[in-house]
Amino acid sequence: MKISIIGIGKVGSTISFILAKEGLASELVLYNRTREIAHAEAIDIQQAVALTPYRLMVRDGDLEDTAGSDIIVIAASAPMPKQMQARSALLAKNIQIMNTLIPPLLQHSPNAIFINISNPVDALNYEILQIIRQHTHLNPWQRVIGTGTLIDSARFRDLLSAQLGIHSSDINAYILGEHGDSQFAALSSAMIGGELIDANPLRQQMVEDAKRSAWTIFQAKGYTNYTVALAVEMIVFSIVEDLRHTLPVSVLIDGYCDVSDCCLSVPCIVGRDGVHRRIKTQLNAEEILAFQKCAHHVKQQIQACYQ
Ligand code: 2OP
Repeated sequence: MKISIIGIGKVGSTISFILAKEGLASELVLYNRTREIAHAEAIDIQQAVALTPYRLMVRDGDLEDTAGSDIIVIAASAPMPKQMQARSALLAKNIQIMNTLIPPLLQHSPNAIFINISNPVDALNYEILQIIRQHTHLNPWQRVIGTGTLIDSARFRDLLSAQLGIHSSDINAYILGEHGDSQFAALSSAMIGGELIDANPLRQQMVEDAKRSAWTIFQAKGYTNYTVALAVEMIVFSIVEDLRHTLPVSVLIDGYCDVSDCCLSVPCIVGRDGVHRRIKTQLNAEEILAFQKCAHHVKQQIQACYQ
């Protein structure tokens, strides 16, 4: 299993470390615009591997060194100013970055699964898929996955866990739609042990608190790295071991809730081939509208970049 990490900033380096620590690859290639950084991180992580039970090679490289990757994690991004209020502010610059990076990556690893974490994750995921479609004349949507609301769902389940006194992995509750302001909780189908969770105002407040918490972290640290890193690890683990976990990740939507031609998060079965199936979660009328609003929001962000 060869995995390449593109963009070795705070997030890319944390992801590289976690993947190495969990022994999820036999080869990790770290690519960064400033090669010196990738080189230093690769040595540091390779030395840490000596304290794990695994045998793997971690190295820095150019884009051609990513050749034959099974998975490519896109963590390259324009810098996020600390005063930034919306992830969408990065879209125009990040599209430019993807236009430079994706074609050579694709050329060297035509069968790779792309995991995108860069923001705004849904709009950018769509643009990455567009670049791949233009270059291959194929529509490999199953192999272009954004971390999406897997991160937001973790934040929400953490709050629910504290309130309900139940382990968060036993809570079946998803934040869906956009990894951004228009995201919503699919509360009408949220369950614990087969019992529906009551969608009371306190729970609605938790959805808002979970959403806001990203900015609390971001404004103090200037980035968020741990939740996104474990989200990537979970997706990679499910691919590598073909576990077929159901994860709310950002993928191309094709007709769900009358939404098409847009990337948003829905629960997806993730395995060796990428997304095996998009689950059609039962939503109530209000949630269907919220999903459609997410699509509108993401499409508007893209349109604004091309005007
Ligand atoms: C996050 O929600 C900033 O999108 C990033 O952690």
